[in-house]
Amino acid sequence: MKTAFISGISGQDGAYLAQLLLDKGYKVIGGDRRTASGSLWRLEKLNIMNEVEIVDFELAEFTNIMRILEKNDIQEFYNLAAQSFVGASFEMPIMTADITGVSVLRILESIRKINPKIKFYQASTSEMFGKVRETPQNELTPFYPRSPYGISKLFAHWMTINYRESYNLFACSGILFNHESPLRGDEFVTKKVTMGLSKIKLGKQEILELGNLDAKRDWGFAGDYVKAMWLMLQQQNADDYVIATGETHSVKDFINLTAKQIGINLVWEGEKEKIVGIDKEKNKIIIKVNEKFYRPSEVDFLLGDSIKARKILGWEPNVTFEELVGLMTKADYDKLSKE
Ligand code: NAP
Ligand code: GDD
Repeated sequence: MKTAFISGISGQDGAYLAQLLLDKGYKVIGGDRRTASGSLWRLEKLNIMNEVEIVDFELAEFTNIMRILEKNDIQEFYNLAAQSFVGASFEMPIMTADITGVSVLRILESIRKINPKIKFYQASTSEMFGKVRETPQNELTPFYPRSPYGISKLFAHWMTINYRESYNLFACSGILFNHESPLRGDEFVTKKVTMGLSKIKLGKQEILELGNLDAKRDWGFAGDYVKAMWLMLQQQNADDYVIATGETHSVKDFINLTAKQIGINLVWEGEKEKIVGIDKEKNKIIIKVNEKFYRPSEVDFLLGDSIKARKILGWEPNVTFEELVGLMTKADYDKLSKE
């Protein structure tokens, strides 16, 4: 039985990856940081809470990371923990640089010192492409990050490559494009939309305020994406891979599809920050732009080319954009209608 360690087990990807590895017969140890409220609801949702071993894990604490590696015979280390919200990284750039960026060096150095046989997965991101230099974006596309988050992830990405090349660690970096699910955090735009429109439909909320509706993303399903993480660590050689669907949609497209699936007849009036979404049947404004959700510098457009992963890993996404919106909308609507 292999033992895998997942940092960030309480997050969206941590939960799906834990489920995948348990299904494959792994012993799963999950790193969870100490918070007053506790935050393992996603493991409960997937019914795997009692199947994983939870240990205290803090990215800022070098000694904690070292002790975990000393105490446990780990074969695969998936580093999913991070300050992962781009918007917050502008408010907290130094903390983001330390937690999302420098911490990866703490892990790599611990692996190098304590057990260099451990295979390491780093959660890199399409945010590193930022102001895109070419379309679609692949492993060779130059990076141009646009946020403290993207820059921190780029540091971590190059450190992962550097430790592979300098010390021969089996260290892989998955450049994952946006991936969502019913377990997505509430602050991300997809979840905000599926939850907000569900509440509006159920009469529990009047209006949904959002930021830039024109941004385009390559959105996939998190359950598909964690398979790629595992596949990367099963290869003969460590390498980096772009994971994406190869389709891009705007935030407005996402809203339109959610409204359609939920049965709201949505029409748009106005432009840019003055644009409003109107429920045609009720003749009522239900969506407004609030500039407080704009970012100081935005990533306008992302579209991934995952041919390398498809060829070498045999990976492909199974859930379509329409299905993803449907999954998230149904989950939120059903949950809220019972409350
Ligand atoms: P998520 O839901 O925000 O999960 C982040 C995890 O990191 C949570 O478990 C969080 O714990 C943990 N964490 C935060 N700060 C920590 C600290 N100081 N010490 C220890 N743990 C800490 O993110 P996700 O969507 O699952 O994404 C997983 C990883 O992939 C992240 O690194 C993210 O940046 C990256 N990524 C995500 C996407 C995407 O579209 N989802 C795309 C590319 C890359 P708490 O529960 O205590 O907050
Ligand atoms: N969060 C949020 N809230 N975003 C909004 C809103 C809003 O009210 N209105 C418009 N947006 C726009 C953002 O400006 C951005 O262009 C887009 O919607 C997506 O925002 P997020 O859902 O916050 O995701 P992200 O693309 O910034 O970052 C996610 O994907 C990255 C991969 O590209 C996160 O999961 C990152 O951790 C991940 O690395």
